[in-house]
Amino acid sequence: MFIDTHAHLYNEKFEGKLKEVLTFCKQQKVDKIICSAADIASAYQAVMLADKFDNIYATIGVHPQDCVNFSEKDLKTLEALAKNEKVVGIGEIGLEYLDGCPDKEIQKTAFLNQIKLAYKLQLPIVIHCREAVGDCLKLLKENQKFLNFGGTFHCFSESIESANEVLKLGLHISIGGVVTFKNGKRLQEVAPAIPLDRLLLETDCPYLAPEPYRGTLNHPGNIPIIAQKIATLKGLSLQEIETATTQNARRLFKI
Ligand code: NI
Repeated sequence: MFIDTHAHLYNEKFEGKLKEVLTFCKQQKVDKIICSAADIASAYQAVMLADKFDNIYATIGVHPQDCVNFSEKDLKTLEALAKNEKVVGIGEIGLEYLDGCPDKEIQKTAFLNQIKLAYKLQLPIVIHCREAVGDCLKLLKENQKFLNFGGTFHCFSESIESANEVLKLGLHISIGGVVTFKNGKRLQEVAPAIPLDRLLLETDCPYLAPEPYRGTLNHPGNIPIIAQKIATLKGLSLQEIETATTQNARRLFKI
């Protein structure tokens, strides 16, 4: 059995297709899917999907791109939603320093407040980090006392040095379709260096479909393709990657 630890199944691209996608996932042995929210609206949607389907779980949080108006009220809403037992983590949360993103200090405040919420709720965090790894690691190190329940760097795309810092913090590293890309060289070097007991698989669907399906609608049924690529890079069998990543996901998210 495989677990997709990061999927955006509420995305409009899945409208009318979800049943078909979930059937295909079963055929591909992708038996559990964690649906990751990025704002308050998608948090409600992710929880609704988790309520509707046995094998879907939710993580809820406000993404750095969407945190400009993040408020105390949002924090309360997340806390209330997290009472649902299918909510297994807080995220995606983090920092993104691309043009057009909210002010860095606003992002850091929203990130830290949600880290503290995760700690209060005894849940792991799902971190989104883009062009911000220095600040992201700094903030996490300064607040390591709130990381007792672990977490994962989703869609990891940083250097080996950064991966080592993430591992030192006790966090997991989640790898998606980019590892199969022709221009995914850096990740192809980093992936084999990640210890088997810290590795997670994800699609981040509907985005980032792996080769040879790049550019098409991505879905959790593509997880075995990503797993196979990592197995090849690590010189291990597909079964070994499947067993380890499934165990890790079950342990981290308690599913
Ligand atoms: Ni995502």
